[in-house]
Amino acid sequence: MAQAQRLKVLVSRADIRRQVRSIARHITHDFRGEQVHLVGVLKGACIFLADLVREIDLDVSMDFMAVASYGRESNSSGQVKLIKDLDSSIEGMNVILVEDILDTGLTLDYLRRILSERRPKTLRIAALLDKPSRRIVRDVRGDYVGITIPNQFVVGYGLDFAERYRNLRDICVLVPPPELDNHGHPGPKR
Ligand code: PRP
Repeated sequence: MAQAQRLKVLVSRADIRRQVRSIARHITHDFRGEQVHLVGVLKGACIFLADLVREIDLDVSMDFMAVASYGRESNSSGQVKLIKDLDSSIEGMNVILVEDILDTGLTLDYLRRILSERRPKTLRIAALLDKPSRRIVRDVRGDYVGITIPNQFVVGYGLDFAERYRNLRDICVLVPPPELDNHGHPGPKR
C-alpha cells in the first residue's frame, strides 16, 4: 500500500513575505518614476504575482502567459510550447517576467526570447525561488531572485504536485518525495 505523504515546511510564510517585500522594494527602486508591466507565467506564478504587485509602489499593469514544457530532464533541448499569449503589445514597456520558480531555465529562456523580439524597453526576470542545481540553460538568471533552494520537489504558494497544494501558505517538501517522470511531473503511480 502507498505510504501517506506529509508536508515539511521549507520556506515559511514569514520568510516568503520578507522576500516578496524585498523584491518589490528593488523593483520600485530600479523603476522609480516609470511604469512597469508584470507578466505572470501561469499557473504557478499567480500567487507570487498577486502578492508582489501589491508591494510595488509604481504605476503597474499586468498580463499573463501560459506554456507547456516537454523533455525537461531527458533532453537538454527540451521544448516549450506557448499555450496562452499576452493580451496586448509590450513594445516600449518595462516588462518583468514573474515566475514562482527558476528550475531548468527552459521556460524562461523560451519566454525571454519570444518577448525580446517584441521590442520591450526593458525585459527583466523576477523569480521567487531559484534551484540552480537543476539548470540546463546556464545563462538564464533572475534579475530579482528570492530564495535559492536545494534540489527538492517543492509545493505550496502556487507550486503544485498533480495540481494539489497550490493554496498552501508555506513552501513545503513532500515526505517521502513523490515519484516524478522525466518531465518533473507526477509519475505513473499517481
Ligand atoms: C513550473 C514553474 C515554471 C517552470 C519552471 O511550471 O511554474 O513555470 O515550471 O521550470 P523550468 O525552469 O524547468 O522551465 P509548471 O510547468 O509546473 O506549470 P504550472 O506553473 O502550471 O504549475
